[in-house]
Amino acid sequence: MISNKSRLDRFISRQTHIKRSDVRALLAQGRVTVDGEVATDVALVINQFAVVVVDGRCLPAKKPRYIMLNKPAGVVSATKDGCHTTVIDLLERGDRDQLHIPGRLDFNSTGLILLTNDGHWSRQLSLPDRQIAKVYTVTVAEPLCAVYVDAFAAGMYFEYENITTRPAQLEIVSEHIAEVTLCEGRYHQIKRMFGRFQNEVLSLHRHRIGSLELDAKLAPGEYRDLSTCEVAALTES
Ligand code: URA
Repeated sequence: MISNKSRLDRFISRQTHIKRSDVRALLAQGRVTVDGEVATDVALVINQFAVVVVDGRCLPAKKPRYIMLNKPAGVVSATKDGCHTTVIDLLERGDRDQLHIPGRLDFNSTGLILLTNDGHWSRQLSLPDRQIAKVYTVTVAEPLCAVYVDAFAAGMYFEYENITTRPAQLEIVSEHIAEVTLCEGRYHQIKRMFGRFQNEVLSLHRHRIGSLELDAKLAPGEYRDLSTCEVAALTES
């Protein structure tokens, strides 16, 4: 796994080709700032997006990226795949190889996918304590009834993982359509939960993660950067 952090002296040496011993002298002389503060500690650990300035010259800083994408069906939520188009393949941007996907969708599922190069942010999103709600519109083959609502709320035991799913909310929208809210993301979770009723999932569309609603202007396959407020709100919610 690529580290999100570097030691300051190593970072400056790598970026400038100045010897580590000379970097130490620069630091001792107060000629380096990190995020606007003078830094003198060679062993200071800086994060990957820190702005480091040496003698007034700003070293190339990595920019954090946060993207929402409307995943079409038939696309893999992975960075690489030998056979199929991946969500990364849909992006036309130079930095796409640095991105990862917090919270995947199955091959035929559609809707809201996030992509980022900020490992800290994506870890915050998946912390079990945060219980960030993900909302899906699900179309099923057989008619729905109130029993489903109780079963989803009670949680279901999954023998393979030896866990019981957290209480999930199921709202019946029409005979074959439900709105399902999960606060976790187990493998094929929604399909397996409907599978308990031998009810096949015909389509599954994620339209919300926490406070973030899929932008209705994005056609399948389209994407846009998140605003600063959207990024912050997701980990504050
Ligand atoms: N649950 C599923 O079964 N599939 C998804 O893509 C997401 C949640």
